Amino acid sequence: MCNLRALVVAALLLHSVVALVSAQRSSQWKTLSGDAPKVVARGGFSGLFPGFSSAAFNLALITSVPDVILWCDVQLTKDGAGICFPDLLLNNNSNINEVLPQKEKTYLVNGVSTKGWFTVDYTWDGLVNVSVIQGIYSRTNKFDGNLYPILLVEDVATQVKPPGLWLNIQHDIFFSQHNLSMRNYVLSVSRQVVVNYISSPEVAFLNSIKSRVSPSVTKLVFRFLGQDETEPSTNQTYGSLLKNLTFIKTFASGILIPKTYIWPVTNDNYLVPHTSVVLDAHKEGLTVFGSDFVNDVPLPYNYSYDPVSEYLQFVDNGDFSVDGVLSDFPITPSEAIECFAHLASNASGQAKPLVISKYGASGDFPSCTDLAYTKAIADGVDVLDCPVQISKDGIPFCASSINLIDSTTVAQSSFSNLTTVVPEIKAGSGIYTFSLAWKDIEGLTTTISNPSSKYTLFRNPRFKTGGKYLTLSDFLALAKKSSSLSGVLIGIEYAAYLAEEQRLSVTEAVMNTLSKAGFDNKTALNVKIQSTNSSVLMKFKEKTSYELVYKIEENIGDTLSSTIEDIKKFADSVVINKASIFPESEAFITGVTDVVSKLQAAKLPVYVELFSNEFVTQAWDFFSDPTVEINLFVSGANVDGVITDFPKTAARYKKNPCLRQKEIPSYMSPIPPASLVQVITPSYLPPAEAPNPVLTESDVIEPPFPSVTAVAPAPTGGSTVGVSPRPSGQPKIAACFFLSYLAMAIAALFLF
Ligand SMILES: *[C@@H]1O[C@H](CO)[C@@H](O)[C@H](O)[C@H]1NC(C)=O
Ligand SMILES: *[C@@H]1O[C@H](CO)[C@@H](O)[C@H](O)[C@H]1NC(C)=O
Ligand SMILES: *[C@@H]1O[C@H](CO)[C@@H](O)[C@H](O)[C@H]1NC(C)=O
Ligand SMILES: *[C@@H]1O[C@H](CO)[C@@H](O)[C@H](O)[C@H]1NC(C)=O
Ligand SMILES: *[C@@H]1O[C@H](CO)[C@@H](O)[C@H](O)[C@H]1NC(C)=O
Ligand SMILES: *[C@@H]1O[C@H](CO)[C@@H](O)[C@H](O)[C@H]1NC(C)=O
Ligand SMILES: *[C@@H]1O[C@H](CO)[C@@H](O)[C@H](O)[C@H]1NC(C)=O
Ligand SMILES: *[C@@H]1O[C@H](CO)[C@@H](O)[C@H](O)[C@H]1NC(C)=O
Ligand SMILES: *[C@@H]1O[C@H](CO)[C@@H](O)[C@H](O)[C@H]1NC(C)=O
Ligand SMILES: *[C@@H]1O[C@H](CO)[C@@H](O)[C@H](O)[C@H]1NC(C)=O
Repeated sequence: MCNLRALVVAALLLHSVVALVSAQRSSQWKTLSGDAPKVVARGGFSGLFPGFSSAAFNLALITSVPDVILWCDVQLTKDGAGICFPDLLLNNNSNINEVLPQKEKTYLVNGVSTKGWFTVDYTWDGLVNVSVIQGIYSRTNKFDGNLYPILLVEDVATQVKPPGLWLNIQHDIFFSQHNLSMRNYVLSVSRQVVVNYISSPEVAFLNSIKSRVSPSVTKLVFRFLGQDETEPSTNQTYGSLLKNLTFIKTFASGILIPKTYIWPVTNDNYLVPHTSVVLDAHKEGLTVFGSDFVNDVPLPYNYSYDPVSEYLQFVDNGDFSVDGVLSDFPITPSEAIECFAHLASNASGQAKPLVISKYGASGDFPSCTDLAYTKAIADGVDVLDCPVQISKDGIPFCASSINLIDSTTVAQSSFSNLTTVVPEIKAGSGIYTFSLAWKDIEGLTTTISNPSSKYTLFRNPRFKTGGKYLTLSDFLALAKKSSSLSGVLIGIEYAAYLAEEQRLSVTEAVMNTLSKAGFDNKTALNVKIQSTNSSVLMKFKEKTSYELVYKIEENIGDTLSSTIEDIKKFADSVVINKASIFPESEAFITGVTDVVSKLQAAKLPVYVELFSNEFVTQAWDFFSDPTVEINLFVSGANVDGVITDFPKTAARYKKNPCLRQKEIPSYMSPIPPASLVQVITPSYLPPAEAPNPVLTESDVIEPPFPSVTAVAPAPTGGSTVGVSPRPSGQPKIAACFFLSYLAMAIAALFLF
């Protein structure tokens, strides 16, 4: 067992160690200085912990580049103390309405009447019982019970000891109207601690301090708000101020602009070509910082929900790089800048994991269409998948579902009269592939899948329909043409039903098609046959020598060694779900199973599904960053393959040079599983879930495969597999799973 205290002590050594692993690259950057762009963490790691809390600031230091800059919005209290807090109002990001009597006031803020609990109405001592909470309601509130206190600016500097400190003065005029001098406060605090950047959206404020700060220590940055908003000290809009950067240069050395100033976005959330603002500002000698970078909103569709892609668009686009980014999730710009920028397109990657597509690049185009497959190959997938369905006239083809309603507009077509009820497949009705001839299926309109639509996250709407289905034979021809694929994966389901009830032999059709395509001998492309039904794999084992992949659909918590012996009889590798490795409760990882090591000990490679980019599909432990998720499964759990509907993200992950560094930097170290639940106070803990069941022999053994000519027996019963519950308690948390810096450091969060 690991000793937590030892981990904590080790964590105290963290900062000195981290400094050694900073990667050095310079000449490639098109920043003003030629140095790598800076990572600025808004309120620390505010994407996870309540922003501006000690936990958020410390997590930012632990997970980011060694020279990360911590951003504080400065507000003044009635007695002139400077606090790090995101807003003039204390309402949304603190529990003030629970701990202090009603003291709502209405004041004019830049001429706008505003109601709430204002910092100017409280003394610093009066706020002693107020704590910061998660102010953004789509983020987890599970850490609100930790009662993190509000911090003074001086405390952030002296206790958190950030490598860089950035103070943002959003309001100066308001405080002077309340007889509080932000100028005096800022000048006094910057004499006590090192302040690296001071930003403000008020021209007069920056003008008032510019002669009083040393430009070599403290850089002044003018913050632009919305183009149509009025700058209160000049009465000009920010849009018009942007036209005279020479003027800005008279009081600032840099600008902070919303990211859409640089890469504007259409109403339907697609990028248009970049503006010239970064190049113009660089010409003027101004540095440019981009703001509003968060992982947990619908990004422009061009990024396929991958936040690393977004950062790369700003720092590595060939034309320019911004000089820094302001982010709520600082791990992501850290890995983007240090691990993924300037990757050559021919960069070699590590062998693991095998990147296996899920219906092609179905995150970008309708599943299993020519568009989705072509994109997957272009994105660098290793294994292209074809879930085989069969038409009424016996043509095998690739489609995500046997029910055409799931992936086409067939229900709105003239074939809607082919709706049938097949209880062996699904309760309710469907329009099944075996009811239509291939020529009719071929003419259907395919539709993109939207698995996260209940969170109103949709995929590539401009391509929500379109793309053609391929016959298995055309699919194999496409795969053969590609020089980058290492194999194909052919999925077979409902074979017994199709043989018995529809007189259609999918297995024969697949074998014949593979053979005709020249795949019956050892070819350059490895062929994997995947099924959830062992009898299908048995049948292939008798007649072929393809790799047989057994898919375990249900979440399992463990597996008996006798079951593994049985699996070995018909399979060469196994597909399991993410939750069979890291079980979750309310999207927090609660432990780790040893399913992977047991299967691998029996020489069964383990492929895992499903890796999607939409942040709602990832546990909180992954910081809304799909690369962080893949990294835990690959570097942490040592899985052999990842199955993904966004193969670009996984393929790029394999190429990142940080994985080859002797000391893996913290932002590319696996997050210790179940470390976050340990930081949650009891009343906020997610419920303890019953452990997932153990996989037993009866789950994997099936009756032999029926032949197509056999007289159809009575319909087989329900297809769900009964699994026996695990006899003993929760899955164990392997506390010594791995000892990364991160593991030690997250343990250290207990200290604060
Ligand atoms: C606080 O939350 C309310 C309700 O969501 C919102 O209308 C308001 O703008 C928020 N205020 C601040 C200061 O964030
Ligand atoms: C803070 O809480 C303590 C304990 O409940 C109480 O005695 C004290 O008066 C409170 N202080 C303020 C300023 O609210
Ligand atoms: C600020 O000070 C002036 C002059 O001393 C006084 O008239 C005014 O009421 C004060 N304003 C506030 C908000 O305290
Ligand atoms: C800006 O406009 C306000 C109101 O319209 C006015 O009171 C103020 O004097 C103006 N300031 C400048 C610098 O023009
Ligand atoms: C831009 O600002 C500079 C410096 O303040 C000033 O001299 C110049 O006239 C301004 N140009 C325009 C077009 O407003
Ligand atoms: C974003 O995607 C749209 C649709 O595919 C495309 O037309 C546009 O050129 C892309 N924008 C950029 C900047 O690549
Ligand atoms: C990648 O391509 C560049 C230029 O085309 C070449 O110099 C380099 O050697 C190639 N690297 C690899 C790993 O193939
Ligand atoms: C369904 O409708 C098509 C024409 O729309 C017709 O040709 C076909 O016979 C119908 N099939 C059934 C089973 O009713
Ligand atoms: C496969 O191998 C067998 C025996 O080695 C050979 O007879 C046959 O022609 C080969 N088939 C193809 C398509 O190469
Ligand atoms: C697996 O296939 C067999 C036929 O070989 C069939 O009897 C059984 O119901 C199938 N199991 C499932 C879970 O579909």
